[in-house]
Amino acid sequence: MSASPLRTNEPLVIAVPKGRILDELRPLMRGVGLEPEPAFDDPRHRGLRFATNLPNVEIIRVRSFDVATFVAFGAAHLGVAGNDVLMEFDYPEIYAPLDLRIGPCRLAVAEPIDLSETDDPARWSHIRIATKYPEITRRHFAARGVQAECIKLNGAMELAPSLGLCRRIVDLVSSGSTLQANGLREIEHIAHVTSRLIVNRAALKTRPEELGGWVSAFREVVDAA
Ligand code: PRP
Repeated sequence: MSASPLRTNEPLVIAVPKGRILDELRPLMRGVGLEPEPAFDDPRHRGLRFATNLPNVEIIRVRSFDVATFVAFGAAHLGVAGNDVLMEFDYPEIYAPLDLRIGPCRLAVAEPIDLSETDDPARWSHIRIATKYPEITRRHFAARGVQAECIKLNGAMELAPSLGLCRRIVDLVSSGSTLQANGLREIEHIAHVTSRLIVNRAALKTRPEELGGWVSAFREVVDAA
């Protein structure tokens, strides 16, 4: 994949994820002196590209998986993405220099509680799994010789076992209440997940001082927290 040509006079574009992570990210943004225009916080506003208090710095707000794609293709210079997303795509164009230590959760395998009482994962040779993370899931099981047939869903994975789509899922678990509410139990841990500051590698070469400055500023704020 070739990144788009990044010129130094272009506005710097920072991609942030929609949803829960954004609430934890806002204090860090404030800490580095980055304030989006008021429309960013207006739920009725339909724009997705926002000016900030800093000249020549813009923010885009997209789905967490898409943050990585915008940064990998050079459409955004900087972004915030979980290591779940980075592991799933494994984009060589993305450099992830800093763990922001926000959004902690885990990627796990889960199955119905009644099944988990008799199931023995050591005996699996082929399993069907509903997940947003087919690549991570295949790799995780292939490492121990289990073939994982993945059904890609984009959300609400927890519904799949009760409706007979498959018996197991791989999904993010934070408090565990979504699993519990759907009669599921976590049976295997795959990875610890937090959000990372990510940078397009080509942009880092063409705008090293500017992007290096942002990484240092976020690092100071994270270290001080
Ligand atoms: C995530 C995840 C689980 C839930 C886990 O979904 O996919 O469904 O949170 O959190 P818990 O362990 O605290 O219950 P999210 O709400 O982010 O929405 P999504 O389904 O669109 O990914």
